[in-house]
Amino acid sequence: MENVPQSRRKFITTLTLLLASGGLLVRYLKPLTPARRRVLVSVAAADVPLNGALVFQNERLAVMKDNNGVYALSLVCTHLGCTVTVTENSFSCPCHGSLFNRQGKVERGPANGPLGRLHVVTENGMIQVLGA
Ligand code: FES
Repeated sequence: MENVPQSRRKFITTLTLLLASGGLLVRYLKPLTPARRRVLVSVAAADVPLNGALVFQNERLAVMKDNNGVYALSLVCTHLGCTVTVTENSFSCPCHGSLFNRQGKVERGPANGPLGRLHVVTENGMIQVLGA
């Protein structure tokens, strides 16, 4: 009979730990929805030139537009994190010479990964670039 209260306490403790860990697991496995993401920049779609780029130096990103639509790229070099420079048809890194095309793909190293693509939402003529 003395084991019954201890067993109940152990059961309640185990149940509490399971619920708490389950809640944490769901919290971290659930993908970020656009509603939960922070707006990094907001710009009128008409202000982004076709086949051009609108550069936001402080946010280290560029909003691009081509015939396929609007997209945004991080200007953080995937080699060691310098800010890449936007040229007419590419992005170049002043630190070690990496070169990326307009889609952010590496054309010349030492960087071996593409520039980060950011989540973009277009609504009512406005473009919002969202961060984590
Ligand atoms: S930080 Fe860009 S090439 Fe090294």
